[in-house]
Amino acid sequence: MNRYISLFSLLLLAGNVALAQEPYRPAFHFSPKKGWMNDPNGMFYQEGVYHLFFQHYPDKTKWGPMHWGHATSPDMIHWTEQPIALFPDKLGYIFSGSAVVDYNNTSGFGKDGKTPVVAIYTNHSAEGEKAKRTDYQTQGIAYSLDNGRTWTKYEGNPVIKNPGIVDFRDPKVSWYAPKNKWVMALATKDRITFYSSANLKDWTRESDLGHDFGAHGGVWECPDLMPFELNGKTYWVLLVSINPGGPNGGSATQYFVGDFDGSTFRPLDTQERWMDYGTDNYAGVTFFHKGKRTLLMGWMSNWQYAQDVPTVDFRSAMTLPREMGLQQVNGTFYLTSTPAKEVETLWEAPRNVKNAGTFETATKGLFDLEFKGLPNESFSVALSNSLNEVLVIGYDKPSGRYFIDRSAAGKKDFEAGFAKRQWGPRVSAQSKIDLRIIADRASVEVFADGGLTVMTALCFPNQPYSHIQLKTEKKTRVANIRYAAMKPAKVH
Ligand code: FRU
Repeated sequence: MNRYISLFSLLLLAGNVALAQEPYRPAFHFSPKKGWMNDPNGMFYQEGVYHLFFQHYPDKTKWGPMHWGHATSPDMIHWTEQPIALFPDKLGYIFSGSAVVDYNNTSGFGKDGKTPVVAIYTNHSAEGEKAKRTDYQTQGIAYSLDNGRTWTKYEGNPVIKNPGIVDFRDPKVSWYAPKNKWVMALATKDRITFYSSANLKDWTRESDLGHDFGAHGGVWECPDLMPFELNGKTYWVLLVSINPGGPNGGSATQYFVGDFDGSTFRPLDTQERWMDYGTDNYAGVTFFHKGKRTLLMGWMSNWQYAQDVPTVDFRSAMTLPREMGLQQVNGTFYLTSTPAKEVETLWEAPRNVKNAGTFETATKGLFDLEFKGLPNESFSVALSNSLNEVLVIGYDKPSGRYFIDRSAAGKKDFEAGFAKRQWGPRVSAQSKIDLRIIADRASVEVFADGGLTVMTALCFPNQPYSHIQLKTEKKTRVANIRYAAMKPAKVH
């Protein structure tokens, strides 16, 4: 018996080693054990556990019949993959959507004192699509009485039928306390349509907006709506992912700041702004939970090349969890994203250098590096390896823009546009620059000026980056530099 157990553990170990050996398997970003993953779905926090569901095709590393995969975590950093939560059914694939904890049992799904968790998602009928119908995307719901582990689909599905709009998907539901009702933001082709409900089953159409403003280089997808308090007032941010049409090509997420009264969203202005200017943060949405923090994770890829990136057993990872905020700069409101503080639990031997004119260090490629008080002049931070591959993150003073350049950063031939330099505007009014870079095996996440400009990008070096070097124009001193190696968060 013992022999069998140890043989079994050896096999398990071998399996984990094999997983660990994939060079682009993230060390501290969630990635599925095998198969394809895209958007994060149905994220909620309940009884000390964060739940992440995700668009998943377990059988191939390409997009296919969509399931909801599932993972749980105590801190949004250490994830354990769980059995698949939702399988395709007779109404179709299970596309993106959200989940809410129905504390007051408004749905009536609760039983024996158990609080229901209700998932609201899009059913996508592949047959309907093939037959060129226009009503093949509908909204359905499912409930769980064991905190998201097992699910029962509602027999009354669909709860929202399709009025003849081909792109009709990605319901994001939240509780609108002032009017005691649920509200849903739904992507409907070139606009967002709001619905409301008392019980999550019967939905009333409220309003729509957006067809005449914002970026429209592609279809609107995966909305989210979130309130922020600023100077004693409540402001609402509406996120809208679009594909293609992002500022650096392919898919990206724009946002609008405005008012919401439970029925109608009124933007303060219609200027185009992007939650993340990098190429690789898409379909990001927030966790449903009772606390004050606004926590978001996105899909760390881009539809332009997601199905071609050089990973083997799996495709795609999620971004790090981010805490969202709102800031006013010169009279304009901006959404900010900063890494959730839980990220710091992975720091290994952080060290600080104060008042330094230059910075250079060896690295194993997994790190969290922060510069506080960089001079307001052009600079670059180069991550390089002994193959002379280099990824450059920098600031171009003449144009007032940050950039990531992966033209010589490693593998790039899998897609023609991958190596293009990508840009994000500096919006901060401070003279000095703050810049934080978090690097995993195949990604960098760049947070400038306290999250006012964010850029996330994949990269595929043929060897881990082993050297970091800051170059400034005049070697002006930087107030504080903090370097911490990052511990891997899991075996795969
Ligand atoms: C966004 C998206 C969603 C859709 C899902 C399908 O990446 O296209 O609009 O629900 O992916 O997997």
